[in-house]
Amino acid sequence: MTGSDMTAAWARLEGLEHSPLAELFERDPERVAKLSQRIEFDVPGNGTNGLLLDWSKTHLDDALLDAFEDLAHAAGFASAREALFGGGIVNPTEGRPATHGAMRGSGTDADVEEGEALLARMGMLVEAIHQGALGDIKHLIHIGIGGSALGPDLAVDALTRDLELVDVHVVSNIDGLALEQAFSACDPATTLIAVASKTFTTTETMTNAESALKWLSDNGVVDPSGRVVALTANPERAVEWGVDETRILPFPESVGGRYSLWSSIGFPVALAVGMDDFRAMLAGAKAVDDHFRETEGRANGPLLAAFADQYYTRLRGCQTRAVFAYDERLALLPDYLQQLEMESNGKRVTADGTPVDRPTAPITWGGVGTDAQHAVFQLLHQGTQLVPVDFIASIAPGDALDPAHHKALLANCFAQGAALMAGGNMSKDGKDPARAFPGDRPSATILVDDLDAAMLGALIAFHEHRTFANAALMGINPFDQFGVELGKKMAKDIDSGEGQFDPSTTALMATAGLA
Ligand code: F6P
Repeated sequence: MTGSDMTAAWARLEGLEHSPLAELFERDPERVAKLSQRIEFDVPGNGTNGLLLDWSKTHLDDALLDAFEDLAHAAGFASAREALFGGGIVNPTEGRPATHGAMRGSGTDADVEEGEALLARMGMLVEAIHQGALGDIKHLIHIGIGGSALGPDLAVDALTRDLELVDVHVVSNIDGLALEQAFSACDPATTLIAVASKTFTTTETMTNAESALKWLSDNGVVDPSGRVVALTANPERAVEWGVDETRILPFPESVGGRYSLWSSIGFPVALAVGMDDFRAMLAGAKAVDDHFRETEGRANGPLLAAFADQYYTRLRGCQTRAVFAYDERLALLPDYLQQLEMESNGKRVTADGTPVDRPTAPITWGGVGTDAQHAVFQLLHQGTQLVPVDFIASIAPGDALDPAHHKALLANCFAQGAALMAGGNMSKDGKDPARAFPGDRPSATILVDDLDAAMLGALIAFHEHRTFANAALMGINPFDQFGVELGKKMAKDIDSGEGQFDPSTTALMATAGLA
């Protein structure tokens, strides 16, 4: 477990041959089974649910997998994982553990107990609101940004296609248009405001929160502060800002912003879908935690995915990875994953401050199928970049229309992975270069039985652990995000007109009347 062990493991990986996908399948009839895993869990009162992770259409083979397992050993993956769940300082630059797992039951006894108590507190407030304790609440404007918005937005969008107990609008941008749009969809007399901010200092969130209070008061709400719920790791600040303690839902400082959906930041989800479904989401995530904690080597789904990520980014030079959900309910998943992966692993030094010698996180991007097929898939099939792709689909449909819709959706999903790998030539004589597909392009498929609340939790936890596993293999700290600070400071300086700026920025400020 030393830097030189890691250097040796990378040297070994670099020395291995890369076989084309078609050859890998020909060589090993057991390939699909070997590179697929199923994670299954019980759904109370509803049998089992499961997700199939098929990584067989990636270039990983036995030799690469052996070498990646050696890398994991050299990188101290098992002890990093132990530290994650055991409350160790896995965020050394901020001197903190990362206890988001404890919010769903995976962590030290003390952290899990704290998580349960906080969840119970949130549950009581959610039930009370549903029962009318704060009046007739029909709408919630959830104000937060980054990790305080992306998770709730994804989960509310995914889980409220059939039923929404309270109509939720997530507003993050400081562009007033975003808040105005939420105002126009809500009745101030029946609207609650959630101010979601770990720090309770973020400019966008606090500016939007002030404007939301003004909107309530301008529209006849006598006690606007009485309509505010604060979701924060800084309750003192929320009290100072004017929120009554009974409506502050705290969460621990050791829960990182982009990992905070499981904490009180998930309040809008619980309000929209009810506590039972919120708890089911936590249970699905816990099932993946258990798999991640208890499974070794390539049989560990998130670790296997990280092996493929490392292979494409660090050995094949892929600068991006794409995610396409063949499910409208996951339309916001790529946005969510962008923060999770790029804010966690978009780093240039290792955890001890040493500059990295290979690329770290690729750029995550994506969209929904089949829409993306008619927009960006041209580049995936025939462009010059190699882009590893993830496909995500559900066997059970989310819609109640003619089953032909869902059958065609799945057919398209499977066809894309098959076509990327197979390649070929679509011209009559098979020779037209414009109609030629190189093939041998990698993809992975996540096929879930049914995309319910538990499965959403499982999917998100899978990606959290994949991100963590990638960080461990690279020796970087996935839990800090200092890269966002310089821009924040400069925005404040420009806004206040203080400081010296480069000539271009100074000219832009003058042109826009900011100087
Ligand atoms: O600017 C980045 C960031 O710190 C994210 O990591 C975080 O999720 C977001 O801002 C919002 O921060 P807060 O929850 O403290 O308002």
